[in-house]
Amino acid sequence: MEFWKRTHMCGELRLSDQGREVVLSGWVRRRRDHGGVIFIDLSDREGLTQVVFNPQTEAEAHAAASSLRGEFVVAVKGSVRPRPAGTENPDLPTGEIEVAASGLQVLNPSQPPPFSLEDDGDVQEEVRLSHRYLDLRRPRMLANLKFRHEVTQAVRAYLAGLGFWEVETPLLTKSTPEGARDYLVPSRVHPGQFYALPQSPQLFKQMLMVSGVDKYFQIARCLRDEDLRADRQPEHTQIDCEMSFVVPEDIYRVIEGLVAEVFSRVLGKEIKIPFRRMPYSEAMLRYGSDKPDLRFGLEIRDLSEVFRETEFGVFRQSLDSGGVIRALAVPGGASFSLKTMDELTAYAQSCGAGGLLWILLREDGSFKSPMKKFLDQEVLARVTRELSCGPGDCVLMVADRAKTAAETTGRLRLKLAHDLKLVPKGVFEFLWVVDFPLLEFDEEAGRFTAVHHPFTSPSWADLELLETDPGKVRALAYDLVLNGTEMGGGSIRIHRREVQEKMFGLLGISPEEARARFGFLLDALQYGAPPHGGIALGLDRMLMLMGGLDSIRDVITFPKTQRAICLTTGSPSPVSPEQLQELHIELALPPEKDR
Ligand code: AMO
Repeated sequence: MEFWKRTHMCGELRLSDQGREVVLSGWVRRRRDHGGVIFIDLSDREGLTQVVFNPQTEAEAHAAASSLRGEFVVAVKGSVRPRPAGTENPDLPTGEIEVAASGLQVLNPSQPPPFSLEDDGDVQEEVRLSHRYLDLRRPRMLANLKFRHEVTQAVRAYLAGLGFWEVETPLLTKSTPEGARDYLVPSRVHPGQFYALPQSPQLFKQMLMVSGVDKYFQIARCLRDEDLRADRQPEHTQIDCEMSFVVPEDIYRVIEGLVAEVFSRVLGKEIKIPFRRMPYSEAMLRYGSDKPDLRFGLEIRDLSEVFRETEFGVFRQSLDSGGVIRALAVPGGASFSLKTMDELTAYAQSCGAGGLLWILLREDGSFKSPMKKFLDQEVLARVTRELSCGPGDCVLMVADRAKTAAETTGRLRLKLAHDLKLVPKGVFEFLWVVDFPLLEFDEEAGRFTAVHHPFTSPSWADLELLETDPGKVRALAYDLVLNGTEMGGGSIRIHRREVQEKMFGLLGISPEEARARFGFLLDALQYGAPPHGGIALGLDRMLMLMGGLDSIRDVITFPKTQRAICLTTGSPSPVSPEQLQELHIELALPPEKDR
């Protein structure tokens, strides 16, 4: 069918267009019949225009309009006129006008959609994802797509302006370890062999530095088979950067400028740079997290010294076995009920701690605590001084191994801030977390693992410790944290083959295995690899945080569910026996009940 070409988008017409003959195309969002006159809201990605069909003046168009239903695709001819006085809609940019229709073409009818596309009604996510193309047609979701487009355009313009080149790297590749499982792709032409999909472009961007690219970026898809959460997807996108001849300061400057530019250009929000910086050890101590949320206080203090001489059994045992006591004060918490204390204790236990000790500091100066006998006035005074708290507040304490005590108080801090509504809206608190340890000892495996990834350089100052006390070596690594979410991470890389080999050795990777898995990188490092470093920002997380959204699924066109299923296409799905045969694959499936 020949269709009338539109002259305007549905969000475009204003009072100044009065009298203009126009053609609009789009989706019928709503139809109302008022005393014979039919009104439709015609919608496209730019907005919505009211169209009026009058049976007296345009009988044919009116008759056609009476068959219209929600989401029919139509073209409408008509003239622009002011809405009658008193019927203007100040909430709509087109709210002062309407189009008096003289003709209508139905370009495609539509089944009734499974949910309303008009608003943000409470639609189950499963239903939304099964009909994602419709979900995306909703104004809020179209706005998210546009927002993503604007951010990526701003990123490209900014980085290109600084001399970065956008370079693509392969998707069919070899394992690039970032701490998750690989997605594997079987090779048809090499029976029994597999490509891995990249967990990040890490090794390629390093090799590009060896090639002399100097400043690289890519808006890169990364694939990781890991447990999913609100801020994790099997496929995510990174703003991936790498630079040669740099120190961490250079990276901070580029990224701070990038973030400030994007926030200003897309949100109109001025972000203060440079960002704060905090060593990892301080973050763990004061916030019980390597990604502290600085939008609120509730800081954690170490009270081990205050209780050094205590007779209280739980604390005594913990201190004697090398543990610590960490605490935080909750303003106004003296009014917590015993039930609340039980709930908080259960929560602390679910975080791995043995329990939770508390002191309720009553307004009248008295106090209540299960360890009251062991709290003399002097100790109590020191506790309240350390925590800067007083009557009306509540003190929560955890005695445990340093890691458990930090993580438990850290998670309690977040829970309380959330429950007590202490988190301000519309605030962006950026932070660089620096001075991470290079290695972490994995008790179960009985060996070190890389805290960032195996290609991160040790701090120059700690190079000697690599031989004597690897656990103490700090990394030239940094994370960018926004409002308690890790938004990005990067490091200066090892650029000398012998240091990289040493690092593989510390990670328990034998020279043969290193050769087999990373031989290409080791080789590249001996052909004039410059000092280099970089970072990757999680684009989906950045958009989620910028947009104040709860899930990265809202900024991803076709996301997977928590169980890594694409409900839109129904993947993953079985393949034909012929395909498997071609790939030389035989299935050894677990029994149905275990799948
Ligand atoms: P890293 O693994 O820290 O570093 O990832 C960088 C950033 O990517 C985001 N991110 C994710 N977002 C959504 N879903 C996921 N599953 C997911 N995993 C990571 C986070 C994270 O901070 N190659 C290194 C970077 C480098 O060293 O330059 C890397 O990938 O926001």
